[in-house]
Amino acid sequence: MQITIALTKGRILKETLPLLGLAGIEPVEDISQSRKLLFDTNREGVRLLILRGSDVPTYVQFGAADIGVAGKDTLLEHGAEGLYEPLDLGIARCQLMTAGIVGVLPRSGRIRVATKYVNIARRFYAERGRQVDIIKLYGAMELAPIMTLADEIVDIVDTGNTLKANGLEAREAIADVSSRLIVNKAAMKMKHQAIQQIVDSLRQAVG
Ligand code: PRP
Repeated sequence: MQITIALTKGRILKETLPLLGLAGIEPVEDISQSRKLLFDTNREGVRLLILRGSDVPTYVQFGAADIGVAGKDTLLEHGAEGLYEPLDLGIARCQLMTAGIVGVLPRSGRIRVATKYVNIARRFYAERGRQVDIIKLYGAMELAPIMTLADEIVDIVDTGNTLKANGLEAREAIADVSSRLIVNKAAMKMKHQAIQQIVDSLRQAVG
């Protein structure tokens, strides 16, 4: 039986591989030294996909991967359709926040918000009855307020260094973020034993 695990490249991957190792799953070659995107592991039938974070829930939702590791931010943005989220891996912790220029009070009335998290931002401001125009960006959100593209941004904050370096300050917390294990709902039924074994050993590895 084939079990496919979709991983998020970058910082999450670096923190995921040691946990997978503790759970007895190791890629047969060094992922960091390769341009490949699909890797066999020491476990027969278990393979790893290396994806952009925002594509991980898509692969798992449609069953192209059985299991995935994705940030809670990505999952909140994507939605939970077709997915179980059985385990918080406790890695890559950060916060989703709103931020604006230091010392500038949030404007009343309609504001412009720049973010790659358009669904999260729309929900957050709507729940507070605040009128916003959302501007979709793909990176470097911290530039938007300074360049007067937007009044606020919604982004993840870890150390706060990026905000500080760009003259911004955090305003409101939206959600605590960490990486989560997700499982395709149909695969959880069809390949229950194999998937449950991986979930259980990862749960043990997380401690
Ligand atoms: C994230 C985020 C911020 C930064 C926050 O970007 O978008 O720019 O990290 O971290 P800090 O609070 O420690 O400065 P990341 O480097 O993950 O790249 P991305 O823009 O591709 O998400």
